Parts: sequence; structure tokens; C-alpha cells
Amino acid sequence: MDKFIVYGGARLVGETHVSGAKNAVLPLLSACLLTRGKSTIHNVPDLRDVRTMLRLLQEMGAEAHMEDHTVWVDTSNLEKQEAAYDLVRTMRASVLVLGPLTARYGKARVSLPGGCAIGARPINLHLMGLERLGASIELEGGYVIAQASRLKGTTIRLEMPTVTGTGNLMMAASLAEGRTIIENAAREPEIQDLAKFINQMGGKIKGAGTGLVVIDGVDELQPIEYSVMHDRIEAGTLLAAGVITRGDILVKNCPVDGMGVVLDKLRSTGATLTVEGNDVRVQMDGPIEPVDIRTQPHPGFPTDMQAQMMALMTVANGRSTISETIFENRFMHVSELRRMGADIICEGSMAVIRGREVLQSAPVMATDLRASACLVLAGMVAEGATEIRRIYHLDRGYERIEDKLHALGARIQRVNS
Ligand code: EPU
Repeated sequence: MDKFIVYGGARLVGETHVSGAKNAVLPLLSACLLTRGKSTIHNVPDLRDVRTMLRLLQEMGAEAHMEDHTVWVDTSNLEKQEAAYDLVRTMRASVLVLGPLTARYGKARVSLPGGCAIGARPINLHLMGLERLGASIELEGGYVIAQASRLKGTTIRLEMPTVTGTGNLMMAASLAEGRTIIENAAREPEIQDLAKFINQMGGKIKGAGTGLVVIDGVDELQPIEYSVMHDRIEAGTLLAAGVITRGDILVKNCPVDGMGVVLDKLRSTGATLTVEGNDVRVQMDGPIEPVDIRTQPHPGFPTDMQAQMMALMTVANGRSTISETIFENRFMHVSELRRMGADIICEGSMAVIRGREVLQSAPVMATDLRASACLVLAGMVAEGATEIRRIYHLDRGYERIEDKLHALGARIQRVNS
């Protein structure tokens, strides 16, 4: 199992770039199941979750391989419409195959994902939506079994704007008969990317990126060639690294249109952010000012940036608060940050952080993807060498982040232990 050793104290300077977006490419790979034939996707980040999704497609009989950030998926000879527990338990996003399989093949057998470190994360809304579209849903031996002759368009109101739920239903409705309306849909930029992808395949989706998505079902979709959007959370993490190290870095290919509130909050820390097209330069020299954050569905502050912002707050000049409203258990990094000397008090979904002048290094453990990123940021300003274990979490969603940070001057080492 790999771990990181991060030596604190280096100021980041230079230029880096953002890779393709994990949470955009996983739905696109699932959407390939809506067609028969070979699709090509460019700008794909080489991540553990992407490899898992390719394996999932291969296990169903699709050909799927990746070379140099391009993926080819050929669904011509799909044999099985199944996502087995062994893969789903390692990646919840596997549930994204449920909608496309039910719509195109009339059947799907997908393992229920189970709990997760950051919360219970049920998929009841995905299932409710599919049932509204006319699928029969049964639960058997830990699996969801969905069946339908042809799905029929309908109106689906989501109690919560679930991101993968909206994606799943958008994919299913694209091959349904007639019009589907999704109310209170997730508005995340990754949903817009998925709609663009399906529309290029011949689909008819309007309103993606708003709370009301209208999908006119078509009989068939065609395989295409597409380039996935860049990762707004990786972009935010790199910019946060510039702030916390009092650095001066240029981050290229930031999907700035979907990053408004993150850029605003980074500015509130006292950093100067200069945006030119899709490139963002962050310059920081003074003290980090405290900020208050409340996570919310897009366009609010993303829960996927909460842990990284908390790292910044641990060394800010005063008291900050973070309120996490999306997941019930997304403060796992708090106890690790405390081991590094951070002053954080949690009460339910609220954390109060009193900034310290310095953090001390300590052996810490990554508990989930974004918590790992938070610990890397904290390690870069801690006195001494911070050992971060279980960085396999980090590899799920950041492509060799240590190489990017190292190129900017960070002293960070991957060790195979
Ligand atoms: N929820 C339900 N029922 C459902 C679906 C969701 O109650 O059927 C609840 C969840 O329990 C949660 C809230 O709704 O409290 C929002 O969950 P959502 O479904 O939107 O999350 P997700 O689609 O499972 C995606 C990202 C997450 C990101 C969240 C929130 C992917 C593959 N995952 O998850 O990304 O945190 O949206 O923005 O897109 C990450 O990248 O580190 C990550 C966890």
C-alpha cells in the first residue's frame, strides 16, 4: 500500500494544469451502454475509479481500454447486464450503469452499493425514478433487479437534487418513449457535460444545468467521439495548494464557469486570483483570512471542496466555520487534522476552526478521497515530515497529484510500504 511523505515549508511557484473530470467521465462511460458500437472519449484522467469503470464494462462483455488519456468503449457484443458486488463495493458510481442498461436492454442486475465512509448514501431516488419510468424494481440478495419492456416518459420530482441520480435518470429517459421531465434536478456542470454527450449521440435533452431537465426520448443513439470537461475539484484543490503555501501558481484548464463560489471563497482568504480564459493564477503573500462555508448543491459551495478548505482554515488568522449539509459524516479528516495540532470543534454538521500559526507533522490516515487531499495540503505547511497512509483513496480521484505538486516545488514523496 502506498503512502505519502510530505515535507512542510515549501512555497509553490510555477505552472500546472487540470486533468479531465472524474465525476464527468464516469457517467459518460456508462452512457456508452446506450449505444451499439465504438465510442471514443478524450481527456480521460488515469484514475483508479476510471479503471474500475472500464473493468465493469469489460465484465459485461464490452471492449474497453485506455491509452494516453483516450478511452475506447465498444458495446457491440455486450453479453451481461450486470454489475457485481465486488466492483460496486469499491466504487459507488458503478450504479450509473443501472439507467442505461434498463433503458437499452430492458434489464439490469446491479449490486446495491451499501454504506460509505462519508454517509449512508442511499439510491432510493434512482429507483423511484426508474419505477416512474415504468421499470419494475426488485431487491434480491443485495442486488437491484430492474426490468422493463420500453421505458415511458413521465414527470419525476426528486426530493433532493441527487447528482448520480439525475445522471442515471437522464440516461434512462433518453431511450424512453415520449417526454420525461425531471424536477429539482442536480445542476452540477458534470450533468451538463453528460447532456452534451448524449445530445451529440442524437439525444434530445434540454435544460441540463438548471433544476428542470426535459428529455425527449429517441429510438436509438449513436456512438461518438467526445472530450470530457476538466475537473473543477482538482482545479480548486490545486488553487488551495497555492493559497496555503503562500505561493504564486498558474493553474491551466480550470472549468471556471462552474467554479464561481469556490473562486470567491478562495479570494475571501486574501488570495489574489486572476482569471484569463480558463487559466487561473493564484498569488498569496499575507495571512490567510478566516472564511465561513456552507456546502450546498451546485451552484452552492461543493462538498467535494469542504475538506481542502478546512485545511486552509486550520492555519488562518482567526475563527472560521464550516457547515456540511450534503453528507452526514464528512468530517472524518477532523480527527486527523487534530493530530497535527489543528484546533477544531465539531457539533453535528458544523465545525468551528480556530486558526493556528503552524501545524505539526504527524502520521495520519486518509479516510476518503477529499479527506486525503486535505491532509496533503495540511502536510505542505506542517513543521517536519507528515506521513499520510492509505493514499489509495487519493488515487481514485487525482491523477499523480504528487507529480503536479512536486513540479511546483512541493516536497512530497510516494513510498511503497
Ligand atoms: N441521496 C438520497 N437518495 C438518493 C440519492 C442521494 O437520499 O437516491 C442523498 C445522499 O445521501 C446525499 C445527497 O442526497 O445526502 C446528495 O447525494 P448525491 O446523490 O448528489 O451524491 P452522488 O451522486 O452519490 C456525487 C459525486 C460525489 C459528490 C456528490 C455531491 C460522483 C460519481 N460522485 O455523488 O463525489 O460528493 O455528488 O456533489 O459524481 C467525490 O468525488 O469525492 C465524491 C464523493
